[in-house]
Amino acid sequence: MITLKHISKRFDVGDNLVTAIDDISLQINKGEFVVVLGPSGSGKTTMLNVISALDNASDGKVIIDGKDISNGGRKNHFQFRRNTISLIFQTFNLFPALTALENVQFAADMRGLDNSEQIAREMLEAVGLGARVGHFPHELSGGEQQRVAIARALATGNPIILADEPTGELDFKTGVQILQLLMNQAQEGKTVVVVTHNREISRIADRVIELSNGNIVSDGPPESGKADISELQW
Ligand SMILES: Nc1ncnc2c1ncn2[C@@H]1O[C@H](COP(=O)(O)OP(=O)(O)OP(=O)(O)O)[C@@H](O)[C@H]1O
Ligand SMILES: [Mg+2]
Repeated sequence: MITLKHISKRFDVGDNLVTAIDDISLQINKGEFVVVLGPSGSGKTTMLNVISALDNASDGKVIIDGKDISNGGRKNHFQFRRNTISLIFQTFNLFPALTALENVQFAADMRGLDNSEQIAREMLEAVGLGARVGHFPHELSGGEQQRVAIARALATGNPIILADEPTGELDFKTGVQILQLLMNQAQEGKTVVVVTHNREISRIADRVIELSNGNIVSDGPPESGKADISELQW
């Protein structure tokens, strides 16, 4: 579903050239539950932005579901992205003037789904926010906003889900519930990529891709085998 071929991403910052991603190649298959693990600044968000065509790579090829999206910029790929990829942003990016329900419903509407309100209610219920549907983002806690962002991504039904630190704002118990939801999506055949600096989360992945300084330093099943979600603790 996701192929990166020799992807590099450099940012020009004044006199400095920052290499956020340094010649990364990988392939992620349909139905895989992948955790991308790496410390702050290792290039995780940059990689998701390149995969989702929100940003162009400096070098290399990006092929998503058989389509080469390496060039053309974010505008040209808008429709493709909308129908293929759901991105859960590290900073949530909710619409401040829309309620939780409207934020989620909007995503389903954009996707052209008929029963968008019902889908939105079900997704908010699934992330534990059934009682908060009428709240605006500023009336929600950070963790609740994060869960709205997750519900919004799931409401699209898109085949690829990219989640940037989806448990960053959540307490342990809620975090595990969200991870279970994401794992279920992979079991239903979606391709799920979770980005995190929390090594514990990588224990439940099918596959762990570890980043350091924009390079892949390891790629394979979790070191001590795939753990059951009930074994997690942090
Ligand atoms: N738009 C930008 N302009 C300049 N430098 C950038 C830009 N975006 C990212 N960088 C730099 O690229 C590197 C990788 O950033 P990235 O956001 O991908 O890290 P990350 O692994 O997601 O970190 P975190 O865990 O803190 O979210 C960092 O050194 C960062 O400062
Ligand atoms: Mg990041």
